[in-house]
Amino acid sequence: MLNKYVKLLKNGEIVAFPTETVYGLGASAWNLSAIRMIFDQKGRPTDNPLIVHISSARMVEDFAKEIPDNALKLMEHFWPGLLTLIFHKKPEVLDVITAGLDTVAIRWPKHPLAQELIAQAGALVAPSANSSGKPSPTKPEHVREDFGADFPVIEAGETDIGLESTVLDISEEPYQIYRPGAISPDEISKIIGTKVTVAEPAAKNTAAKSPGTKYTHYSPHATVKWLEANPQKAGQNALYLLHSNKLEPVNQNIIQYNGDFKRMAHELYDRFRQADHETLNAILIEPFKESDFKNPYVQALHNRISKAVS
Ligand code: TXA
Ligand code: MG
Repeated sequence: MLNKYVKLLKNGEIVAFPTETVYGLGASAWNLSAIRMIFDQKGRPTDNPLIVHISSARMVEDFAKEIPDNALKLMEHFWPGLLTLIFHKKPEVLDVITAGLDTVAIRWPKHPLAQELIAQAGALVAPSANSSGKPSPTKPEHVREDFGADFPVIEAGETDIGLESTVLDISEEPYQIYRPGAISPDEISKIIGTKVTVAEPAAKNTAAKSPGTKYTHYSPHATVKWLEANPQKAGQNALYLLHSNKLEPVNQNIIQYNGDFKRMAHELYDRFRQADHETLNAILIEPFKESDFKNPYVQALHNRISKAVS
């Protein structure tokens, strides 16, 4: 089933494939022109580096200059899975991948099709398979929406998690999370016995350590706003995403998660796209309470929603 896609990748083409977080847009990690096609296809700024996707621990050695003990512990515990690690890079890693930084981000996805694809085609660089500025794709339809009906997509239905991986810089201390995800700072700290902090988003027009943090990702056409107070009745032209509040009468534009933050994360990007299909003006989201932040999905949700609110 994957043969056709493996062939495309080996011929220097780009292919969208499922991971457990979001769909990725893959190119061979050693093919300069294929990697350039990724930036063109997405309209991605070239100063935003890409994650190298691997399918075995051994493959890290092809890209990372050294693997610190703490990285080994995290790899053993969280790989394959939802954690992307940033290492010092080997000199042979292509500069287009790292945007000229001396570090490289590496992830071993858990999705069986992603693993099989990489095992057959070799390491792949893969950003999320959306046009830059659009929400990341969680369904094959989302990829086609952005890249056209004929774009090669390995279909595997909806992705499980729905938000991108946690990105952790392990190349120097103090270790910092550049992008919160389903794996929380506390879970990471527990494994390595060292505190990790969440980096502040970089200011626009600055050379950031993690350039991706300065771009407004994840934004639909509709205006995304935090709900200021629990409204008495819903406005006509808005989508409501509520996790503790209730609004009557419930209709298709009032989504109530009742504290199920995992489901909220799973659906968020699809809801953003839905609002655009229905040409709604606004997406109104209930702010999270201090106590909600114990849940790692809330940290990731808050990060993505804050970026979309602008
Ligand atoms: O879940 C995911 O990580 C998905 C799936 C497809 O694996 N991929 C993904 O890739 O979200 P992308 O390109 O959309 O986001 C990669 C993030 C960006 O914020 C980028 O700036 C950061 O990782 N990044 C990549 N390499 C880096 C590096 N060497 N130093 C700092 N940040 C880096
Ligand atoms: Mg992305």
